[in-house]
Amino acid sequence: MMKTFYVTTPIYYANTVPHLGHLYSTIVADCMRRYKRQRGYETYFLTGTDEHGINIERAAERKGVTPREHVDFVSGEMKRMFSDFALDTEHGGFDIFMRTTEPFHYEGVSELWRRCARSQTPKGREAIYKGHYEGWFCAACAAYKTEDEYIRPEAEGDAPRCLVHETPLDRISEESYFFRLSDYDGALLALYETRPDFVRPEARLNEVKSFVRGGLQDLSISRLKTSVSWGIPVPDDPAHTMFVWFDALSNYITAIGFGNEERERVVGFEKFWPAVHIIGKDILRQHAIYWPAFLMAAGLEVPHHIIAHGMWLDPVGRKMSKTIGNTVELELLHKHFQTDAVRYFCLREMAFGQDSKVGYEAVIERSNSDLASGLGNLSSRTLTMIQRYCEGVVPAQNISDEKFLTAKRAGIEIDPLALVSTLEHARDQFTALMDDLAFSRALEAAWSIVARVDKMISDAKPWELAKNDEQRENLNAILYRAVESLRWLCVLLFPVMPESTREILRQLGLADDPAQIDPAKLTWGELKEGTRIGEIKPLFPRLDKKKIMADIEKEKGESEIAGTHVTEADAVQGSAITSETQPAPPQAGATEADAAAALKKEDEGAQFIDIGDFAKVDLRVGEILTAERVPKSDKLLRFTIDLGEAEPRQILAGIAEHYEPEKLIGRKVVVVANLKPRKLRGLESQGMVCAASVGDEGRPVLATFTEDVPNGARLK
Ligand code: ME8
Ligand code: MG
Repeated sequence: MMKTFYVTTPIYYANTVPHLGHLYSTIVADCMRRYKRQRGYETYFLTGTDEHGINIERAAERKGVTPREHVDFVSGEMKRMFSDFALDTEHGGFDIFMRTTEPFHYEGVSELWRRCARSQTPKGREAIYKGHYEGWFCAACAAYKTEDEYIRPEAEGDAPRCLVHETPLDRISEESYFFRLSDYDGALLALYETRPDFVRPEARLNEVKSFVRGGLQDLSISRLKTSVSWGIPVPDDPAHTMFVWFDALSNYITAIGFGNEERERVVGFEKFWPAVHIIGKDILRQHAIYWPAFLMAAGLEVPHHIIAHGMWLDPVGRKMSKTIGNTVELELLHKHFQTDAVRYFCLREMAFGQDSKVGYEAVIERSNSDLASGLGNLSSRTLTMIQRYCEGVVPAQNISDEKFLTAKRAGIEIDPLALVSTLEHARDQFTALMDDLAFSRALEAAWSIVARVDKMISDAKPWELAKNDEQRENLNAILYRAVESLRWLCVLLFPVMPESTREILRQLGLADDPAQIDPAKLTWGELKEGTRIGEIKPLFPRLDKKKIMADIEKEKGESEIAGTHVTEADAVQGSAITSETQPAPPQAGATEADAAAALKKEDEGAQFIDIGDFAKVDLRVGEILTAERVPKSDKLLRFTIDLGEAEPRQILAGIAEHYEPEKLIGRKVVVVANLKPRKLRGLESQGMVCAASVGDEGRPVLATFTEDVPNGARLK
């Protein structure tokens, strides 16, 4: 039987159009699946949309459409935008665009729920029980918030606000089903122990482990239908709606046939499960803790791997957010860059697993340096020379010993063995790095071939050789080496650049489908002498940075689809969407578009503060003298911090999940010194420590100094 490989992306919330972050996960999954298919696996690739829940219900309500109309529209847009980057079925991309509103999904999730409900936890208790939930809920996070995960209200009677979204939380006090997650800590820790690559990279596994070791709480997995109606009813108790994460995570198995015979027949849960899940690290906990626990309860196999990549940040290092307006928009990427340039950029620019900064400029620079001057140039110069010097036919590679010696004496570098061994080494490196998800380094390995062949051509100077009949064999040999190397590059790079590699092969005169060639089996010399090359076309035109950046500056935001431009924060605050009309295309110059642009400008003006406003904030350098956990709180650390004053201050910060207190002692931090003191867990906090909020989850990263600074120095 053929080996199988099933890869998934997260299913994205169907409340807004996707940005570079969503595109990235989908490109990673697409690239892995194409690679695995080349290596002989039978593959299945899922992406799609997460379409239920209060957040979507509210977004639809504000638009004045039904939730169904809203999700139909957004998922349609998403599919269309993904097809612009060769990610859809027609381009050899996803096998299913999964939607949680599909009837077969309802069936599958219900089956999963029932199985969980019938089963016992490792500690011999029922896995699902009915209880009462009381607490605060953030719709945008789709998560309940404990005291140290929210900002306390200023005034009596106001709702607290979410630490991540800064929007008011919903008070929930109702009957709810619970999943007894607290009984699964031992089983989960054993899983992480026996399968250390269950979560990758390792740093993420360690985060998960320490979270589980800190103790797990039972998970509320339903809401009353009267509170949330847009969702899947709990089997046998339709007064309850399933919690959206139970519904969403299950998509990975319902899509391939769990709980539905028809899907089982056309795809096959038995055949493809378990999967490799590609996710952003913002949703690690749900995938590495909740999901395997649900599966264990249902008696199903856990996934092969949870692979969590880093987050794309804007050029200043902020998380991409529609509210700030610093996202990289897919419409603009599509308009100004080639599909493969964007795909290449994503995989080359981000060291897998780490966060990475991104702006349009970086895409232009990579496209120019690596594609226009690199691969594109190598291809066009090689093919042009074959056209010019060999009448468009791939020449012979062999050279007689005698000619070889003449060449050597003339200082021409045509040692065939040296080049072949370089290529073989790069090929082996490339496949090993792809197996290891090190896309960026795999591409570096491929580009070492580009550099090597470029150097061979520059050293041998075919245009000189062509002037001398004596050197004909040498000229042929050089050109053969160049063009055969190009063929290798096409096979290696196909998963990353499916369109341009096919195009280069076509220009080479080959009908081979790189999707079907195993890169690990590339052997030298398979390109046949006498092959007639095809029509030569330029591949990656050089991009004019100034012009493109000026265009993008004008077009930003215009390509958003009115009405789907709902931020997570909007969705919670219920703020109005300014326009329901489709914006005019940028080139139309219509007055409507101008008016929209003017409105946008005004909006931006309102977001500025003047220097006086800033001066009101007293930011000071502080040194952490002591640091300890606050008893009974997972989140809070208690510091004493020296601000150069007579007495150190006591300051509390909600970063205990991300920092070991001992390691922070002696650290210089930035403190808001004139913040009104407030009490947390009965302790007074006399100021605030500043941290960057990173990723969707808002992971805190403390601001610090790389140079020595005295305590109490003011930041201005
Ligand atoms: O979380 N950088 O959906 P979502 C990199 N519906 N990747 C990013 C990113 C960024 N700045 N922003 C988003 C949900 N992503 C749930 C998932 S799965 C059963 C349910 C990518 O629309 C990344 O893959 O908020 C991240 O995990 C995902 O989009 C979150 O998408
Ligand atoms: Mg999100």
